[in-house]
Amino acid sequence: MDPGGYRGRTAIIAREEWRQVIRLVISNQRGGVAKTTSVANFARYLADRGKRVLVIDTDPQGSIGTVLGLKPAKYLHDFVVYNHLFKDCIVEACPGVDVLCGNRETVKTEEIGRAHV
Ligand SMILES: Nc1ncnc2c1ncn2[C@@H]1O[C@H](COP(=O)(O)OP(=O)(O)OP(=O)(O)O)[C@@H](O)[C@H]1O
Ligand SMILES: [Mg+2]
Repeated sequence: MDPGGYRGRTAIIAREEWRQVIRLVISNQRGGVAKTTSVANFARYLADRGKRVLVIDTDPQGSIGTVLGLKPAKYLHDFVVYNHLFKDCIVEACPGVDVLCGNRETVKTEEIGRAHV
C-alpha cells in the first residue's frame, strides 16, 4: 500500500516524489555576506510553500539559533559525536522548519570528523 493511496504507475511516481530530498548548502569563506540571513529567509520561504525544511547550522558561531531566537537543549555536536537522538537535538523554529543548531563545540565536531576521513 503506497502512502498516497495511488495505484499502478501513478503509485510509483507518487512514492518517488514523496521521498525526494533537496540538499542546499549556503557557504562562503567571506564573512558578513548574508549566509545566515539567506538560510533563515530561504527556510521560511520553502516552508511557506509546503516543504518540510531541516536547517543544519555547521557554523561554530551558532548564529542561526540566535537569529531565530531558539533555545536548543542539544546541538549538532551532541547528535554527531555523542549520538543523542535526532528528535532531541532539533528545535522547531516555525511550522515546517526544524533546526539542528551549531555552537562552539562544532569546532571539535569538525576535528573529530577530519580524523575519521
Ligand atoms: N539584504 C540585506 N540588506 C541589508 N542588510 C543585510 C541584508 N542581508 C543581510 N544583511 C545584514 O548583513 C549582516 C551580515 O549578515 P549575516 O549575519 O547573514 O552574514 P553571514 O555571512 O552569515 O556572516 P558571518 O560570516 O559573520 O556568519 C547582518 O547584520 C544582516 O542583518
Ligand atoms: Mg553567519
